[in-house]
Amino acid sequence: MSDLSKLIADTHATLSRIASDFSPAVFASSLAAEDMVLTDMILKAKHSIGIFSLETGRLHQETLAMLDKVKQHYGYDIAVYKPQQDAVDSYVAQHGLNAFYDSVEMRKECCRIRKVEPLNRALSGNKAWVTGQRRAQAATRTSLLVEEDDPAHFMTKFNPLADWSEDDIWNYIRDNGVPYNALHDQGYPSIGCEPCTRAIQPGEDVRAGRWWWENPESKECGLHVVDGKLIRIKSVAA
Ligand code: ADX
Ligand code: SF4
Repeated sequence: MSDLSKLIADTHATLSRIASDFSPAVFASSLAAEDMVLTDMILKAKHSIGIFSLETGRLHQETLAMLDKVKQHYGYDIAVYKPQQDAVDSYVAQHGLNAFYDSVEMRKECCRIRKVEPLNRALSGNKAWVTGQRRAQAATRTSLLVEEDDPAHFMTKFNPLADWSEDDIWNYIRDNGVPYNALHDQGYPSIGCEPCTRAIQPGEDVRAGRWWWENPESKECGLHVVDGKLIRIKSVAA
């Protein structure tokens, strides 16, 4: 068995366990490459895990187009969660549309309104949630576990791709004809909101284009942190 075949088998085993022992469970998809791998695995193997995406109102057209691509390719409608319009309006009225460039606090407040609060709604009523995070992605993710406690949401959180490398992701996508965001072919290995993501130059870190004006240590949007701390509490062997 190749290393990738083993990773795929292990990941399917994790997804099966989530579906059987943690139902109802949901997968948060940013529609980027990692999340398309998990989408392909969940939908083709019919793992009973719902898929949703947080539509922040600031995504690239190429990212939004992935919702239709998933519908066409798999016949599946990803559930879309949007921010509360009054909270967005009040932030913009008070601070301006692009105040996230002014300070880490302003950036985190925008992420709180556009991502964290909608995430809370999307997770409500579930026993577990699934992400596409990988250890190799970021300075903030080097000790990422496949399974961890998420005390912020009172549930278990799974990162089934924690062990996968960037090459594993792209080999899976090519081997399986998985649709992917067109921005990945334009210098965007990591994709978030349009004003907070730029293309990277060859040799730059894969997350160098995310919130590029901030320190690597602060580059998390609040989906994966609580009170400023990363959620890495429980270690359970997968
Ligand atoms: S972020 O914290 O820096 O924004 P990143 O883009 O690396 O996160 O994505 C890590 C994981 O967070 C994704 O695999 C996905 O599970 C979740 N995620 C990030 N953005 C979204 C989004 N807009 N909608 C749903 N899930 C998301
Ligand atoms: Fe706002 Fe940027 Fe966070 Fe998107 S990534 S929610 S635009 S600060």
